[in-house]
Amino acid sequence: MVKSFLYTAIIILLNVNNLFAQKFEKLAQTPPMGFNTWNTFQTNINEQMLENMVDNFVSSGMKDAGYQYFVLDDGWMAMQRDNNGSLVADPAKFPGGIKKLVDYVHAKGLKFGIYNCAGTLTCGGYPGTRGYEYQDARLYASWGVDYLKFDWCNTDSLNAHEAYTTMSKAIKIAGRPMVFSLCEWGNHKPWLWAKNVGHLWRTTGDIGAGFGRLVNKGTWNALGVTGILDQQEGLRKYAGPGHWNDLDMLEVGNGMSYNEDKAHFSLWCMLAAPLMAGNDLRKMTDQTKSILTNKDVIAVDQDALGIEGFRYSAVDGLEIWIKPLANNQLAVCFFNRSAKEQTIAYNWKDHPVKDDLSGINIDFNTTAYKIYDLWLKKILGNTKRALKTTIGIHDVVMVKLTKL
Ligand code: GLA
Repeated sequence: MVKSFLYTAIIILLNVNNLFAQKFEKLAQTPPMGFNTWNTFQTNINEQMLENMVDNFVSSGMKDAGYQYFVLDDGWMAMQRDNNGSLVADPAKFPGGIKKLVDYVHAKGLKFGIYNCAGTLTCGGYPGTRGYEYQDARLYASWGVDYLKFDWCNTDSLNAHEAYTTMSKAIKIAGRPMVFSLCEWGNHKPWLWAKNVGHLWRTTGDIGAGFGRLVNKGTWNALGVTGILDQQEGLRKYAGPGHWNDLDMLEVGNGMSYNEDKAHFSLWCMLAAPLMAGNDLRKMTDQTKSILTNKDVIAVDQDALGIEGFRYSAVDGLEIWIKPLANNQLAVCFFNRSAKEQTIAYNWKDHPVKDDLSGINIDFNTTAYKIYDLWLKKILGNTKRALKTTIGIHDVVMVKLTKL
């Protein structure tokens, strides 16, 4: 009797412990892909416009290309919680409430993401989650939310690891699997502690639609594509299936040149970054669409190994990035950061590839690979001969190597 009581007690304790232990597992086994409202719309969002965006998510081919999460960023709430302390949607922006939009998104076969913040107020000044973690998680679960982006404004002296762990536990207890996206801008090195707390963590401050290091936003500077890229040094070993370095949302289609958009997208894929489109899906040009829906390039991002690429070399503004892929394949991205065209004759045999993290060790003198251009969609010969090509200003040549 005592024995069986003890046995039951231990089983219960183990289960409760499990429940409290960690984030939902098995989510985001490849970097999450979707759309987020912030980059283009900030807080100028409303139900009708977003339903229209959801329609375009599907009709534009984004869904077919693998994008899945429709994420509502800051600005969706009323300025006050209700009498029960529950968050409410801004009634003017969302007359039907958030659940209606969630249902709309689900009906299209997509998943829904929402935003809040660990502090007392969000970055936009709306009610933050501090002190309401469990209540807010239950509300999101009741709405059918599948993804939570959790920001870091107005947090005073909160401990980031603790604050994000509390929210992670609250989600777990609420019982609905949600991808948990940490957005504390890399301030507290989340790559060192967030693997079991969330599924992705921002590594930098906010992105802006520019190619340089900084993008002037008037009262503050956002980071440009190369600014974010250069801050990834040393972080690749922390990423993998279920836990990703987040290089922030995409600015493809938001004002950079075609080459720059293409380079931005290619590099995010080389770095196994989450791919959250941040452009207006209702008016994409064919060029923008062709970048965001390039399935060959997306496949590099979504590769099952989940190993981030690395900068193999950098000479005179020409960088070579390499990403080990499943099935002994390899993605190679020639990236021209400079303001002049670069013509190369790249002799593979002079450039062995050794990478301790993935364990690859390639000598092109003994192993030859077929070269497939992922943007031109054609075979460029093989690695027995030098690759002769010209890389435009701020452009890339991105290829996939497959053993001959
Ligand atoms: C922060 C985040 C952004 C966005 C805004 C919303 O700046 O880093 O991605 O969510 O807040 O206010």
